[in-house]
Amino acid sequence: MGRKFNTAIWWFILFVVSSTIPLKAHSTSEDDRQTCIVYMGDRPNADVSVSTLHTNMLHEVVDSDVEVPKVLYSYKRSFHGFVAKLNKKEMQKMAEMEGVVSVFPNEKKQLHTSRSWDFVGLTPQLQLLSERSAKGDIIIGVIDSGIWPHSESFNDKGFGPPPKKWKGTCAANFTCNNKIIGAKYYKVDGNFGKEDIISPIDTEGHGTHTGSTAAGNFVSSANFDGIATGTARGGVPSARIAVYKVGWVDGIDDADIIAAFDDAIADGVDIITISIGGEVVREYFNDPNAIGAFHAMRRGVLVSASAGNDGPTLGTVGSVAPWLLSVAASTTDRKILAEIQLGNKMTYEGVNINSYDLKGHLYPIIHGRDAPNPKSTSLKSGSCLDGSLDPKLVKGKIVLCDANALGEDVGFASGAVGIIMEGDSQADTGFSYALPASHVDTKDGASIESYINKIRNPSATIFKSHTVFDRKYALHAASFSSRGPNTINYDILKPDISAPGVDILAAWTPLKSPSEYKGDKRITKYNIISGTSMACPHATGAAAYVKSFHPNWSPAAIRSALLTTAIPMSAKLNPHAELAYGAGHINPIKAIKPGLIYDAGEIDYIKFLCGQGYESSRLKKIIGYHISCSDVNIGTIWDLNYPSFVASTHTSIVNRTFTRTVTNVGSPNSTYKAKLSPAPENFQIMVKPSVLKFTSLGQKKSFKLIIVALLKNGINSVSLVWDDGKFKVRSPVFVFKLT
Ligand SMILES: *[C@@H]1O[C@H](CO)[C@@H](O)[C@H](O)[C@H]1NC(C)=O
Ligand SMILES: *[C@@H]1O[C@H](CO)[C@@H](O)[C@H](O)[C@H]1NC(C)=O
Ligand SMILES: *[C@@H]1O[C@H](CO)[C@@H](O)[C@H](O)[C@H]1NC(C)=O
Repeated sequence: MGRKFNTAIWWFILFVVSSTIPLKAHSTSEDDRQTCIVYMGDRPNADVSVSTLHTNMLHEVVDSDVEVPKVLYSYKRSFHGFVAKLNKKEMQKMAEMEGVVSVFPNEKKQLHTSRSWDFVGLTPQLQLLSERSAKGDIIIGVIDSGIWPHSESFNDKGFGPPPKKWKGTCAANFTCNNKIIGAKYYKVDGNFGKEDIISPIDTEGHGTHTGSTAAGNFVSSANFDGIATGTARGGVPSARIAVYKVGWVDGIDDADIIAAFDDAIADGVDIITISIGGEVVREYFNDPNAIGAFHAMRRGVLVSASAGNDGPTLGTVGSVAPWLLSVAASTTDRKILAEIQLGNKMTYEGVNINSYDLKGHLYPIIHGRDAPNPKSTSLKSGSCLDGSLDPKLVKGKIVLCDANALGEDVGFASGAVGIIMEGDSQADTGFSYALPASHVDTKDGASIESYINKIRNPSATIFKSHTVFDRKYALHAASFSSRGPNTINYDILKPDISAPGVDILAAWTPLKSPSEYKGDKRITKYNIISGTSMACPHATGAAAYVKSFHPNWSPAAIRSALLTTAIPMSAKLNPHAELAYGAGHINPIKAIKPGLIYDAGEIDYIKFLCGQGYESSRLKKIIGYHISCSDVNIGTIWDLNYPSFVASTHTSIVNRTFTRTVTNVGSPNSTYKAKLSPAPENFQIMVKPSVLKFTSLGQKKSFKLIIVALLKNGINSVSLVWDDGKFKVRSPVFVFKLT
């Protein structure tokens, strides 16, 4: 919000300047430079001096009469590349240089801003089992806004020294312990804000929240001002945390995200969690998360990334590379209410996180529309936008606002006692404000409005939040969660899976107020926030839980275990079906015993990339050895060994064959039968063979799934279950029409 506002002002200033001051006769090419990432694929040879190489490359692309830009970063530990300021012409020349895979401008990215582990069935007792199995050897790399190290969630009581494989370090001005075993920070432009602390310390709260959700200790009686009290903990409380801070007051730079991946992989983390994304989805080797996750995958490290908060619009999912796990957000069976009562005793189930207690006292209520200040309009004040309300009219009152009021000064500037927002968008998610606040749907909003209009002295109160539990709240895709389809490859299902991301309680930093509003003076150790940012570390924790029992499983095997054991979500409740929730909702307990896995490794992704038109010469740079696409069995998108099946079509006719190979990790002797859920009319799905017989563990068997269909609707979901009587290995089969 703030960033958009600043951009608009900046353009205005630029316009004024350029129209009043005559431009220089010719602008030098340095003026047009922007920070760029030069990605060079596989790790450099040990005998190459990368800094000399990078400087030489810069000399070659820069005209002789202009200054050669500085190398801002050299990536060399897990993959190869560097960062420097280049103009358009220099970028083009650089892209053609030997060894370069891609050159792309650095963009700013944003953070995808207790009870949840019980909801997914992972009780403390079961978590202790994984502790015994993994013995504290799992390291989770958290690429985020840093960490608040003094939180109970990161206390190292009972932890031994870091595992031997650990090669990471700690920033000089940060004290690591045996829980937080590594901590670094990155800022490519060195341009820190006044409120930034130049260290891995978290001033945003986001990194502390995601880190503790993935791997926080057991902390009993955690709560936010008495709301949502329970035992806070991560998916694997015995896991270690390595912090890579990239989030600052002015946002997050691609160049820093890539630097964090370069270090995390080489440091020896087991899983990387990244709840960060941008608005634009880019081709795989122009995308920081996809580049980082590709090299992580080659070293056996799974990357779990948030799908994004741009839902419910279709085609908004980010982090779509087939070698990473993309996580959507859903509700749990808990809802946090901030009930409202009017002077006429009518009550409404408002949804919000409200820790303020008005003690049932009734205050006058007014619609923002009726209280614009002389410089504003009733349209603006109706939505309670910043600076739109007249303090004389709203002071001491509760204000009813259209839509979610997100202004920085809601309440304080105007002197209102509280706000009630009405609207159907994001009515499933609670937010924190710096004053008593609640949120109702348009139906209840209309009822409150009619009360305000009818009564001479209307009044209302907002109650402090309390939690309610009901199964019917659960397993809804959050409205904000980004939806598929995957716009790079329609036929690879993204998001992959869904996890709790609504009203999540986890550790917080004392350096940020719980509402994140500047005027809010409250401090809390645990805070309740929502986002795919919160869902992602749940999936990370679940993946770590699986890894604690199966330390040698590949990233694809762990992902397969999570997807094929996921709790089915309902296409009736969620009209975007798989495009909203992927394979369904994480079920970590089941995921440790999946029966069969759809495994994939480097060579499978290379075949896939060959099939996507990547040339052998480009692939050689990325992987560091020669492979000829014409020699390998080039894989179509439908043959990548993915645990979900997607066929998109522009017409109504589908005739698609998929090939898959499953590996037996269940019982040595087992016979699996293919079972398909009832298909829509005019749908024919065949599985050949329809019975798979295994006689040993690790044995692989292939099959084909063939869909021949005449589509009636846009979205069609079926599921394939391989069932041996003990294990049920479920995959979504999803067919949709592109419009
Ligand atoms: C931490 O160390 C860095 C590098 O030496 C320095 O720039 C920064 O100001 C230090 N931060 C704090 C909070 O002392
Ligand atoms: C589907 O495609 C296959 C191979 O291209 C072809 O042999 C088959 O006849 C097609 N089936 C239908 C029903 O069109
Ligand atoms: C599996 O079956 C084979 C032959 O049918 C038999 O020799 C073997 O002992 C069985 N293994 C187990 C673990 O039951």
